[in-house]
Amino acid sequence: MTALNRIPIAERDVQEEKLPLLQVRGLRTCFESHYGSVTAVNELDLTVYPGEVLALVGESGCGKSVTAMSLMRLVEAPGRIESGQISFDGRDLLTLSTQEMTELRGAEIAMIFQQPKGSLNPVKRIGSQIAEQFERRRGMPHAKAWKLAVGLLERVGIPGAAEKAKAYPHQLSGGQAQRVMTAIALALEPRLLIADEPTTALDVTVQAQILRLLTERCRSHQTALILVTHDLGVVAQVADRVAVMYAGRIVEEAPVETLFANPSHPYTRGLLNAIPRGNHYSESRLEEIPGTVPVLGRNPEGCGFADRCQASYAGRLNQCSTQTPPTTRIAQGHTTRCWIYHSGDAQ
Ligand SMILES: Nc1ncnc2c1ncn2[C@@H]1O[C@H](COP(=O)(O)OP(=O)(O)OP(=O)(O)O)[C@@H](O)[C@H]1O
Ligand SMILES: [Mg+2]
Repeated sequence: MTALNRIPIAERDVQEEKLPLLQVRGLRTCFESHYGSVTAVNELDLTVYPGEVLALVGESGCGKSVTAMSLMRLVEAPGRIESGQISFDGRDLLTLSTQEMTELRGAEIAMIFQQPKGSLNPVKRIGSQIAEQFERRRGMPHAKAWKLAVGLLERVGIPGAAEKAKAYPHQLSGGQAQRVMTAIALALEPRLLIADEPTTALDVTVQAQILRLLTERCRSHQTALILVTHDLGVVAQVADRVAVMYAGRIVEEAPVETLFANPSHPYTRGLLNAIPRGNHYSESRLEEIPGTVPVLGRNPEGCGFADRCQASYAGRLNQCSTQTPPTTRIAQGHTTRCWIYHSGDAQ
């Protein structure tokens, strides 16, 4: 397997010594449709520590964005958070009032959305959109806020930031819009940053620059980052831990080195095996695994991966298609949702 080509970072902390910043337990988010209820996020547990980068990976439609939107409490009808707990610094976000949640968003938890242009106000200069974070939320006078906005645009790598601050979103390229979104997200120095495919639209150089900016922020300000990505190259470079999602559930979670060296869940193994030897992770996409993703909600009882499972033991365990495997801890910080481990058959 290709050696991990990590962006150099400061020595990592021992997470166990810290208190979690975010603890999600049993999160379930559903969408009502003509065909019934679709469970997009199911029994989701997630723990994130200050200063760490947690990558959330999985193929299209597995529930990554719905998870991110649920954490922000931004799921809109026909979607709904049905149950669970989202504990952020000891407060359960699901019990906060709308007003309390609005105050928390941006200031303590910020998100970089998958569709950057749609998230910017088309009739407002980008400088104003950043500056208003400081004006509204910090009561700063406009001139000072504008200066900070220009500084942020410089930091996210917008050339000629002072001039560009006067531009409107339609005058930006996709990459520039993503940088502006990054600037807005970083403005109030949130403690948790959720970045949903923040670099998909960017060329490789800009992608590396944004990722460096985000990870440096994590190390210097102890900001926690949940990085949603398809790109295993990005995971290898910047993540501390990885959560692999499949059909609405987290099927494996491990420190990044462990995941690449010792993947346990047949789905994770399939993902990594799908990468041609000698290739860089960055050239591979997760869609390469054979078979199709199950329709969410069709088989809520069994393991979502049972039909596609390539492992020799697939089918050997009756419960694969009839009961959802529980999360099993197989090593320090390494969990998996597969019957083979639960039943003690793992080699
Ligand atoms: N507005 C919606 N209405 C109905 N169902 C939805 C809606 N949004 C999401 N879903 C359901 O939730 C599932 C997960 O969607 P989500 O956007 O989280 O996937 P994703 O993992 O972010 O995919 P991608 O990698 O393509 O961004 C979808 O497969 C779909 O079934
Ligand atoms: Mg998505």
